[in-house]
Amino acid sequence: MRLTAVHTVLLAVLHLATASVVDRSLPKPAGVIERQPLVTPSPSKWWPTRTEKKRGIVSDVAGDVNSILGSLGSNVPSYVASGVPNFFQDFPTGAKVQSSLGLQDSQVSALPTQVLNIPGYGNWTDQGWNLRFHGNVYKQPNISESKLNDLANGFLVGTSIQDLPPSQASQARNLTAEIYVLQQSNENVTFSLAPAPTAGASGEQGGGGAVTPSGGSQQIKFPTPTTPEGDFDGFVQINNNGLAAGNSTSEIQRLNVYTEGDINGNATSYLAPTTGLTIISDIDDILRVTKIYQPKEGLLNSFARPFTPWMDMPDIYANWSRSVPNLHFHYLTTTPEQITRNYMDFIYKTYPGGSFDTRPLNFSDVSATLSIRKFLLDKIFQTYPKRKFVLVADTSNSDVMRDYPAMVTDYPGQVQCIFLRNTSSTDSGDQFPYDTSGFKGVDSNLYMFFNVPDDLMNLDIAAGHCVNNTIKQNLTYGYQGLPFGLNTGNGKKNAGSQLAGSGLWAFAATLGVIMWGLGLAL
Ligand SMILES: *[C@@H]1O[C@H](CO)[C@@H](O)[C@H](O)[C@H]1NC(C)=O
Ligand SMILES: *[C@@H]1O[C@H](CO)[C@@H](O)[C@H](O)[C@H]1NC(C)=O
Ligand SMILES: *[C@@H]1O[C@H](CO)[C@@H](O)[C@H](O)[C@H]1NC(C)=O
Ligand SMILES: *[C@@H]1O[C@H](CO)[C@@H](O)[C@H](O)[C@H]1NC(C)=O
Ligand SMILES: *[C@@H]1O[C@H](CO)[C@@H](O)[C@H](O)[C@H]1NC(C)=O
Ligand SMILES: *[C@@H]1O[C@H](CO)[C@@H](O)[C@H](O)[C@H]1NC(C)=O
Ligand SMILES: *[C@@H]1O[C@H](CO)[C@@H](O)[C@H](O)[C@H]1NC(C)=O
Ligand SMILES: *[C@@H]1O[C@H](CO)[C@@H](O)[C@H](O)[C@H]1NC(C)=O
Ligand SMILES: *[C@@H]1O[C@H](CO)[C@@H](O)[C@H](O)[C@H]1NC(C)=O
Ligand SMILES: *[C@@H]1O[C@H](CO)[C@@H](O)[C@H](O)[C@H]1NC(C)=O
Ligand SMILES: *[C@@H]1O[C@H](CO)[C@@H](O)[C@H](O)[C@H]1NC(C)=O
Repeated sequence: MRLTAVHTVLLAVLHLATASVVDRSLPKPAGVIERQPLVTPSPSKWWPTRTEKKRGIVSDVAGDVNSILGSLGSNVPSYVASGVPNFFQDFPTGAKVQSSLGLQDSQVSALPTQVLNIPGYGNWTDQGWNLRFHGNVYKQPNISESKLNDLANGFLVGTSIQDLPPSQASQARNLTAEIYVLQQSNENVTFSLAPAPTAGASGEQGGGGAVTPSGGSQQIKFPTPTTPEGDFDGFVQINNNGLAAGNSTSEIQRLNVYTEGDINGNATSYLAPTTGLTIISDIDDILRVTKIYQPKEGLLNSFARPFTPWMDMPDIYANWSRSVPNLHFHYLTTTPEQITRNYMDFIYKTYPGGSFDTRPLNFSDVSATLSIRKFLLDKIFQTYPKRKFVLVADTSNSDVMRDYPAMVTDYPGQVQCIFLRNTSSTDSGDQFPYDTSGFKGVDSNLYMFFNVPDDLMNLDIAAGHCVNNTIKQNLTYGYQGLPFGLNTGNGKKNAGSQLAGSGLWAFAATLGVIMWGLGLAL
């Protein structure tokens, strides 16, 4: 009963706290188009005991803690306050870009058409190989440097392009130019396919087990025109033309996919056999240093600074690529499609070659942002019902924490291992709470929370060894990583927990923090 009374008081506190966070907005320089309010407060915060609204609570935890501790500074964008630590939200598209740049239709039609061709994967079916083609058709306007500076400043928090070193300012302008493109709907795309040469295990478009196929050359017209957002995404049955059958080889065959009419529309796609092992890897804060949970740093690391690998993670992937025969790598990040090229450039210089997924343009609002990972995971699991998957990411993504363990139950026997970097264990700047309750009931031999890449060394992933016994698993099922080392849920990794996943419990713990922050006593 006491909790109920405490509740009432604290609901009011919460209201004040969240309101002050949500009202803060990013200052916008002249000429930058108004971005939509990114997040509206969820009505769920008034019903904290309703378990189906758990996400709302996670959001509020982050919002309120930030608000009270003020540790992130004053210009915290609303998407951070919402607990969705993803600052790549709501990029302008098509008509909005054209009007914000004041371009006439005739100027646009004079621009060359370009194609983003994202490396795909293919499966073996009764009709032969079935290959996924996906990407975007767009035009890139010529934007003056001063205009690009203005536009880039719209993405930076607490700094401006004029304050950055010249190389960083240049990168920020380049990235901004990639975002301010005009997507082209209703366009046909045609590709020509050819065997791709083999390459080394890392830092090249290779992938250790991949081979040059003995054939496969042909032309493919994508069957449907681009969507209103300029996207194309679908599987096409291709002719064998000398390719090995997917049920008689264990090798990954690599095909180059050239887009007709655009020399920048080249990609390498991967024909993976019916059985085998695929690594599905997130990128931010696991393969590169992003610090997505520290918005100012995250923005600079994404917009301005050169992409940097996270510790010796490249060695771990290079070893897997070299030592596990016929391993397929698939990079699955929810970063928006517009900046796919930057991610691909970094990955193919640093990690083994592989197929790629980013967030398509029709998944742009916050609820779609939270559902895209599962959509893309379902797609690849359903494409290879007999392959096994090793899933790699970090704890700072709430969708990963929910979707990775869900794959274990949704696709029995297909998840070989889940490796999650505990970002709060090595980075005290990570104040975003994360929810481990999805792992309740998942076989503890299937997953490991780890601290540094070396923790993954000497694990025989091909044999299904997912746990390094020297890495302490201090897992409770509930919210972790709250400030001051506060965790909720009381079950250890191998035990059950009656309170696990209870929104009320998390709420009470959070309120303790808020009350502390306000100098009140429970
Ligand atoms: C391999 O796949 C083809 C086409 O699906 C099928 O006709 C053939 O019987 C399969 N072979 C084996 C050994 O399963
Ligand atoms: C882009 O515009 C600048 C001046 O605004 C001009 O110097 C440059 O030649 C243009 N580039 C292209 C490719 O049209
Ligand atoms: C930005 O793009 C220009 C033109 O493509 C290129 O010359 C320059 O090196 C790029 N800058 C950075 C920092 O990548
Ligand atoms: C795309 O191809 C279809 C036929 O496959 C054709 O009817 C249509 O006109 C083409 N669209 C464009 C924009 O070329
Ligand atoms: C986005 O488009 C893809 C096809 O390109 C479709 O399968 C998917 O359902 C769409 N998703 C949303 C949220 O509109
Ligand atoms: C794409 O491939 C074509 C054909 O091999 C080549 O001429 C072109 O230079 C490639 N484009 C890039 C950007 O490497
Ligand atoms: C191949 O992939 C497609 C697309 O995901 C899927 O619908 C189909 O069931 C897969 N076929 C086989 C034989 O696994
Ligand atoms: C992550 O690390 C923090 C700090 O060391 C620790 O309190 C927490 O229990 C760890 N979480 C998991 C899931 O291992
Ligand atoms: C486990 O982690 C430790 C510390 O990072 C590392 O030295 C060791 O190689 C890892 N692998 C195994 C199988 O112990
Ligand atoms: C490299 O990967 C293989 C396969 O998982 C594993 O057996 C081996 O111990 C790894 N070596 C190192 C140094 O991590
Ligand atoms: C394990 O977690 C509990 C509760 O969060 C904490 O009190 C304890 O210090 C942790 N132990 C280690 C070794 O991290």
